Amino acid sequence: MSAPSPGGAYVRVARRADVPPGTMLRAEAGGHAIVLANVDGELFAIDDTCSHEEASLSEGGLTGEVVVCPRHGARFNVKTGRVLSLPAVRSVATYAVKVEGEDVLVATEPRRSAALPHRR
Ligand code: FES
Repeated sequence: MSAPSPGGAYVRVARRADVPPGTMLRAEAGGHAIVLANVDGELFAIDDTCSHEEASLSEGGLTGEVVVCPRHGARFNVKTGRVLSLPAVRSVATYAVKVEGEDVLVATEPRRSAALPHRR
């Protein structure tokens, strides 16, 4: 069930068992395609669409907290959305995640715009 929060509504996207540690799962939250990533038991959500040429990041690889785009190999941090390597130059949006019992809920709005250029 969705619940209001200071940052907006949340929507249930998966069960915790659907995303074991070290794996990713594509889902949808508020009309946004997102990828859930389990990093050592902690769940994070970022845009599923690579900021380079729109490949699905959930089809890439996850190593620790870094996801590698399956198309050209750009890397993103799943905790921050920060782009870590070319050819992508823009970070991707992050979404708040919370776990209620066995349910994984994701905010329906991103924490920040993916259109913002990466800084530092
Ligand atoms: S589409 Fe992701 S790096 Fe090119």
